[in-house]
Amino acid sequence: MTLTIAIDGPAAAGKGTLSRRIAEEYGFHHLDTGLTYRATAKALIDAGLPLDDEAVAEKVAREVELSGLDRSVLSAHAIGEAASKIAVMPAVRRALVEAQRDFSRKEPGTVLDGRDIGTVVCPDATVKLYVTASPEVRAKRRYDEIVAGGGTADYDSIFEDVKKRDERDMGRADSPLRPAADAHLLDTSEMSIEAAFQAAKTLIDAALQRKI
Ligand code: DC
Repeated sequence: MTLTIAIDGPAAAGKGTLSRRIAEEYGFHHLDTGLTYRATAKALIDAGLPLDDEAVAEKVAREVELSGLDRSVLSAHAIGEAASKIAVMPAVRRALVEAQRDFSRKEPGTVLDGRDIGTVVCPDATVKLYVTASPEVRAKRRYDEIVAGGGTADYDSIFEDVKKRDERDMGRADSPLRPAADAHLLDTSEMSIEAAFQAAKTLIDAALQRKI
C-alpha cells in the first residue's frame, strides 16, 4: 500500500522546502502541485491563449506533463499570478486533481504539497500537515530569498502580495485553502526549517508506526 503525505498551507509558509526534505528522508516521490497550475498558466500564455476561458484552460491542463515541471522557469511572479486566476476554475481543478491523484499512488510513497491535498486530492492520506506562518514572516522569507538570490525586492509590496494571494486561495468557492479536520497544524513563524522538519518527522514516524 502506498504511503501518502499531504502538506497544505498558504504561499511562502515553507511547505516546499519541508516537502522536499521529507521526500528525501523517506525515499518518497514528491509533487509540488502548485507547479501543475503554474505549468497550465504558462502553456496558455506561451500559446497566446486567454486566461479566462475555462474550456480552453481545461484542455491545456489535461496536456500538462507532470514529469516535465521546471521549478526555475515556473517560479516567475507573473506565472504565479496567472496560475491563481486559472486555479479558481472547477474544470481546470478537476483535470489537475486527476493527474495529482494518479501521482499520489506511486510506490513506495509520495509527498504532495499544495492547498487542497488533505481536503480534496488525497483525503485518505497517511499523514496530513497544515504548514503555516504569519503573513509578516512569510513576506520576510520571500524578501530574504529574493535578496539572497541577488535580486532587489520591496518588503511592503511583497507583504501586500502575500495577503492578496491568501484572500484568493482561501476565498475561492472551489476547494478553498483550509486545514483538513484531521491535519496536524505546524506554525513555522518562530521555527527554523530544521525544527519544522524534526516536528514533521515525529508526526510522520508515529503515523507510519500505526500503519505497519
Ligand atoms: O504554491 P504556488 O504559488 O506555486 O501555487 C500557484 C497557484 O496555484 C496559487 O494561486 C494557488 C494555486 N494552487 C491551488 O489552487 N491548489 C493547489 N493544490 C496548489 C496550488
